[in-house]
Formats: sequence, structure tokens, C-alpha cells
Amino acid sequence: MNIQIINGPNLNLLGVREKSIYGDSSFETYLTELQGRYPNLNITYYQSNVEGEIINKLHEVGFSYDGIVLNAGAYTHTSVAIADAIAGIKTPVVEVHISNVYKREEFRHHSMLASNCKGVIAGFGLDSYRLAIESLIVK
Ligand code: DQA
Repeated sequence: MNIQIINGPNLNLLGVREKSIYGDSSFETYLTELQGRYPNLNITYYQSNVEGEIINKLHEVGFSYDGIVLNAGAYTHTSVAIADAIAGIKTPVVEVHISNVYKREEFRHHSMLASNCKGVIAGFGLDSYRLAIESLIVK
């Protein structure tokens, strides 16, 4: 099974950025653990701070991969273009958030993407990504 993880803006700063919210592990460190945990899955990773690049990646993998785990960061709350990209591809997308966005500022309570996704997982720290993978591999 091919699973693509896509992280959006500012998530390259995990482990450095707002540690009380996002924790102190870099995504690369966590990814190595995750790949070790699922040796039978091909888990690939892409991060971009650029909206159009996230859309290009969705188009690139969205007709051949088995699942996409997407943390679009702040674009979650604003991007019609990413919502349209998710609607236009075949691969199921699970929206993920490290923090519990519903406990935070009101502008984080709304997702432009969620209605085009298979489901949403939020608030479990980096373990949110593993839970999303679990949801994609369950038949
Ligand atoms: C986030 C939540 C977003 O509101 C925020 O803009 C992020 C990270 C999360 O993983 O908790 O950049 O997607």
C-alpha cells in the first residue's frame, strides 16, 4: 500500500515552533518511527509552505496512491483551492491536526477541506498521523 503524508505551511518547524502546542519532536524523527512501525506500507512524505505545491502533490499521487494523510496547517481554514483538489482526485484523504483545533481560536474551528475528506483526526499530537494511517488501512 502506498500512503502519502502531506504537511502544509509551518509544519517544517515542528520541534521548534510553539512546542507547548505541537511538541518537541521534528517530523522527520517521528516519520522514521512511523515507517518502522509499518514495514509493509510505503509511507512517503512531502512538506511545502506553498499552497500550489500542495495541490500539485495531491494531483501527482491522487490517482495512484491508496491513501493521503493531509495536515494542511492554516490552509485548512482558508483554502478553496485545496478543497477543490481533494474533490478532484480519487485517492481518499484524511485530514489531520496535531492540536485539538476545537479547543483553540474560533477561526480554527472551521475546515474548508473536511467535507471533501474521508474523515478528520485532531488533537492526538503526532499520533494523529498514525491514527489516520490506521483509518486508511482498515478495510
Ligand atoms: C494545525 C492546526 C492549524 O490551525 C494550524 O494553522 C497549524 C497546525 C495542527 O496540526 O494542529 O499550522 O493544522
